[in-house]
Amino acid sequence: MNTQAITPAFTHKPKILVARAIFPEALAKLEKSYEVRSNQSDRIFTPEELQNALSEVEGALVAGSERIDASALSRAKNLKIVANISVGYNNFDVPAITAAGVMASNTPDVLTDTTADFGFALLMATARRITESEHWVRNGKWDQWSIVNNPLGMDLHHSTVGIIGMGRIGQGIAKRALGFGMKVIYHNRSHLSVEDEKSCGATYVSKEELLRTADHVVLVLPYTAQNHHTIGAAEIAMMKPTATLINIARGGIVDDVALAQALQSGKIFAAGLDVFEGEPKVHPELLKCSNIVLAPHIASATEKTRRAMVDLAIENLDAALAGRKPPSLINAEVFGA
Ligand code: 8YV
Repeated sequence: MNTQAITPAFTHKPKILVARAIFPEALAKLEKSYEVRSNQSDRIFTPEELQNALSEVEGALVAGSERIDASALSRAKNLKIVANISVGYNNFDVPAITAAGVMASNTPDVLTDTTADFGFALLMATARRITESEHWVRNGKWDQWSIVNNPLGMDLHHSTVGIIGMGRIGQGIAKRALGFGMKVIYHNRSHLSVEDEKSCGATYVSKEELLRTADHVVLVLPYTAQNHHTIGAAEIAMMKPTATLINIARGGIVDDVALAQALQSGKIFAAGLDVFEGEPKVHPELLKCSNIVLAPHIASATEKTRRAMVDLAIENLDAALAGRKPPSLINAEVFGA
């Protein structure tokens, strides 16, 4: 008698979308459990393509390039989770995602130290004019050592750093600043606990006091409609002419046109930017400034950390599709609703 099953076992693999290119090993792992629509070409979907892709799947791994709002979700009848491969989630319209009964998750913690390291690197490069100096050397302008006619920078040690946005990454920058003997002041929606202020050596001040007294202003706050142009011409006017401004938060927190004018007219000393309004386009007036260090949104970009971000996003997706609570769920009210 033929003991082999006549009908193959029913194997329903949930369909998922991976909206951006990810590490091949991570994709291979996903393919074991899911029917995967991947995008290894890394061409960013148009809104229509995203809406179509979401209409076919139960879970989606996305990044800042995918705007997830009511329109994107309008035909996503089976979608259970959108898992962002990013800690910031200003690409999510959270109320719209919640109204659609879809879980939303992000990737906190795994990128905190890598991003704080980068913020500090950008601060050092900006204050000490490292990229400007490199251009000088590469362009053959370095003809002699000079006491005064070399790129003279601003000190970090024993200066005051003002951090706007004192979440996990802001606190990471504060701890690094302590190692440089810097005074740390911060401004945030809420005060840190006394213990956290102590471990960061940080003192809460108003935004105005921070702008007026800091030698280096570092922006690490999330982008929200209220935080749009947190730094514009009026705020820059309060800063010291010797100050630097570092943005590792999001484009749109700084008014890039006002910043370019301030850098060109010497209202502040220099700026270091990892994020831009309308990136990957960079405002042409910023590109004209020599007293600026530019980076292409790479604060979390080490291989180890990007792998950890992808892994955490997958953990969130796996949990949601297995009926478990995703570890970094943003809209907890959707779970089990
Ligand atoms: C991401 C970031 O690489 O996590 C964040 O908020 O800014 C970066 O680490 C980027 O947002 C990818 O979408």
